[in-house]
Amino acid sequence: MTDTKKSIHGEWSSRFAFILAATGSAVGLGNIWKFPYITGENGGGAFVIVYLLCVAVIGIPIMIAETMMGRRGRQCPINTLETLTEEAGANKNWHYLGWLGVVAGFLILSYYSVIAGWAMAYVVKAFTGSFSGESAAQISTLFSDLQASPVQQIFWHTVFMVTTMAVVARGVQGGLEKAVRFLMPSLFVLLMLLVAYAMTTGAYMQGLEFLFKPDFSEMTGDSVLTAMGHAFFTLSLGMGAIMVYGSYLPKGVSIAKTSVLIAGADTAVALLAGMAIFPIVFAHGLEASAGPGLIFQTLPIAFGNMSGGWLFGVLFFVLLVFAALSSAISLIEPAVAWVVENYDVDRKKASIGMGFLTWVLGLGTVFSGSFFEKMDYLTANLMLPLGGLFIALFAGHVMLQKHTQAELALDNETEYVVWKFLVSYIAPAAVFLVFLHVLGVFG
Ligand code: TRP
Repeated sequence: MTDTKKSIHGEWSSRFAFILAATGSAVGLGNIWKFPYITGENGGGAFVIVYLLCVAVIGIPIMIAETMMGRRGRQCPINTLETLTEEAGANKNWHYLGWLGVVAGFLILSYYSVIAGWAMAYVVKAFTGSFSGESAAQISTLFSDLQASPVQQIFWHTVFMVTTMAVVARGVQGGLEKAVRFLMPSLFVLLMLLVAYAMTTGAYMQGLEFLFKPDFSEMTGDSVLTAMGHAFFTLSLGMGAIMVYGSYLPKGVSIAKTSVLIAGADTAVALLAGMAIFPIVFAHGLEASAGPGLIFQTLPIAFGNMSGGWLFGVLFFVLLVFAALSSAISLIEPAVAWVVENYDVDRKKASIGMGFLTWVLGLGTVFSGSFFEKMDYLTANLMLPLGGLFIALFAGHVMLQKHTQAELALDNETEYVVWKFLVSYIAPAAVFLVFLHVLGVFG
């Protein structure tokens, strides 16, 4: 075991840099693309409440646990788990948890990149004025044309993967820290603007009602699982992304406060996206349950019909691509860090290799819609919650209390006790119960 006080990959330049990077990881397609369409598919308000509960009760405690484990282990998740297991004198098999995460990240990125590619294609469409004055039906056709073109999708998927790996190859600090500093606030402002537009559609209240008025009769076991899986997905939890970011976190930064802040920002972006999209959906008689194409079939209507919409359309999709990029790098960073730590391979070669593998797997999503669905279900609904469950158990029951206490360094004892209780019992029990629920154990 090496005496690594610092990661061999370097450190974030400050607490703020970590917040940006982790928020950059959390805020992505999950908030703006996925949250609205799964909310639409699962009946609205009740689904949103379950999702918010999962963020608070499961997500935040596990985010604290992941960051804390990463900073203590100072390596990629697989090696961090090995180090921490040794430190605690526990069973060696825990490092398979790191493996589960690396595989999950790789599977997620394969389809994530294809969807980010759609957003890139939409930058061009916005730029060339494809939305202007178009009806909802014409906008829908734009989307189905893209779906029907493997060539276009592969082209953009390739561009996105190459960009992602170029950033990862350079190490995270240089360009991205700086880019995200400007891009995240801009995205926020643009979303507000879209919410303001949504208010003018005449269906604003209907949209809000859909988003916030719970109707629990719409909730199935699978909806509950999807809501919980999405809490993991949107916060980048359960596969070691936040753990690896934590491993670059300087000592002395308050992990708990930072986690609450990141989760709050992430949730705000998702809710704003919902408030922008559903009024447009209802105003144009579209289906809330349209699925993965939802934002691509709704937002361009707004851009095509508001003044200055051309510019806002370009800006919006550019920002969405950047949000996706700052998430994508965190999906593959654990795998790249693992290669660099374990083999005599530099970051550049490791990035090329991992990027290529991901690219190949992404072709599955390009050629088959059901491939994406299965992959999404497997990763977001099963692998992430399972990974999160074991991370919680590890932080709560395997690591020694004196170590977690020292690493978290909370101001008061009560905060520590609350976290410890949530991570040891409540979060694992909640994940476990949802799994049982889906298996139909409760009838
Ligand atoms: N959270 C990102 C989003 O909402 C996606 C993401 C990045 C992610 N890193 C992750 C999801 C790690 C799960 C695990 O778009």
